[in-house]
Amino acid sequence: MRILYIGAGYVGACSAAVTADSGHDVLVYDTDEKKIGMLSSGDHAKIEARLFEKGLADILTRNKDRIAFTADYGAVRHFLDKCDAIFLCLPTPELGESGESDLCFFNAAVEKLAQAMARRNRGRQSKYIVVVIKSTVPIAAADATVKIFAKAGAVNFGVAGNPEFLVAGKAVGDSLKPSRVVIGAWHERDFKIMRKVYQRFYDSASVQYIEVNPKEAAAGKLLANYYLYNKLMQCFDAAGRVSESFSDIKFENLKKILTGDQRLGAGDWGFYNSLYCGGSCFIKDSRSLAHQLRAAGQNTALIDSVDKANKRQLKIFLARAEKEAGFNWQGKSVAILGLAFKRDTNDARHSPAAEIIKFLRSKVKKFFLYDPAAMPNFQSLYPREPKAIYASSELAAVGRAEALIIATDWPVFHGLADYLLAQKKHPLIMDGRRLLQNRYDDLQRAGFNIIAVGSPFFKAI
Ligand SMILES: NC(=O)c1ccc[n+]([C@@H]2O[C@H](COP(=O)([O-])OP(=O)(O)OC[C@H]3O[C@@H](n4cnc5c(N)ncnc54)[C@H](O)[C@@H]3O)[C@@H](O)[C@H]2O)c1
Repeated sequence: MRILYIGAGYVGACSAAVTADSGHDVLVYDTDEKKIGMLSSGDHAKIEARLFEKGLADILTRNKDRIAFTADYGAVRHFLDKCDAIFLCLPTPELGESGESDLCFFNAAVEKLAQAMARRNRGRQSKYIVVVIKSTVPIAAADATVKIFAKAGAVNFGVAGNPEFLVAGKAVGDSLKPSRVVIGAWHERDFKIMRKVYQRFYDSASVQYIEVNPKEAAAGKLLANYYLYNKLMQCFDAAGRVSESFSDIKFENLKKILTGDQRLGAGDWGFYNSLYCGGSCFIKDSRSLAHQLRAAGQNTALIDSVDKANKRQLKIFLARAEKEAGFNWQGKSVAILGLAFKRDTNDARHSPAAEIIKFLRSKVKKFFLYDPAAMPNFQSLYPREPKAIYASSELAAVGRAEALIIATDWPVFHGLADYLLAQKKHPLIMDGRRLLQNRYDDLQRAGFNIIAVGSPFFKAI
């Protein structure tokens, strides 16, 4: 099949690569010429510098004959003449903190596509095409999209939803082996085309292939992210608080007790502690769900409380410096280790580091920042941060700081304990990921004050 992707971000690029790997001919269009240049370079380092996703560079180079990238809309118009399906992978950020989706990118792309669709096959529009919404969108978005196409005079097309459930940092692996594929369509014709697109998964015994209508698909995606966000907050705000408030309770031991109950969910996903849950999805999608429910006249107190718990989590963590260690942030130099919202990705949207800076900016003198993958993205997302100094390594960042905050769980940060133990200086250690938990005793004995999320204060001995 011939498949067009619009939007070459984390979702678009990874999904397009896997679609090419399934044997389809794929064209990927994005307005960002630089990104297109890097993704089509065939150079692993350049691809990873743009989109740090394990396996992406390999799969792109392996399928280079079946996937092309372009920033030229002429190529899109040409491709439409024989195209079977178009995946819309556009950003749908939140407007402020309102929960309302900012559909300006999505609608701009749809409007431009609608014009091109109406002119395909020299205006005859003889080729039937399914337009597939992969972006996370409001529940009624598919019907609104149909209207935009119809207004432009497009005919002989269908609109389906195919929400993306991949996990950042594992996007390629998840796209190759999804737990489920959800297709939302109103018409059998569209389901049939989507079964061909996803033949590999439709035929697979290990993939749940779920066919619903477009509203259910969109609502299911929002609910899934709300449930996951909620699960994390139960851990941060209940289990975490218990283990911070009572001595002799170890968070990891509570985790063992809780994960023994299958009713709380198979596996141990969500049973970890962190200073803040960031990223581009959980926060925005939960708030979007609440916004839409409020508009439908519903009480959203429970959903709202989950987001409030996340904000509270960071506030409590940072406040412990003054409250428990007597550390005054005023005029201090602070190292923030980890700018990505979590390990294995260079996605820095809503990262804990960004929230920490917002919170402490007025007090702190300088922030020494380091991340093994996300520094360029962080810099371009938050370009005017006068107090930020980008360090060349985690050790360089820590070496000049009076407090250090571990904000992302990058494995490389495990080496910090040995480094710190070999130093004469004793910065306040704020472990927002419980990364150094096996070394807290050593560090405490060596004279470090430690504030770890999910533990009571460890005072220097
Ligand atoms: N990142 C994730 O982990 C994830 C997971 C599931 C769902 N989603 C959803 O998928 C959607 C895309 O997310 P993402 O993380 O890939 O976003 P992204 O910001 O990484 O990528 C979006 C891309 O769209 C491009 N773009 C913007 N306007 C365009 C236009 N008019 N025409 C063509 N290209 C245009 C941008 O240049 C960018 O490269 C969002 O709705 C998001 O909520 C994301």
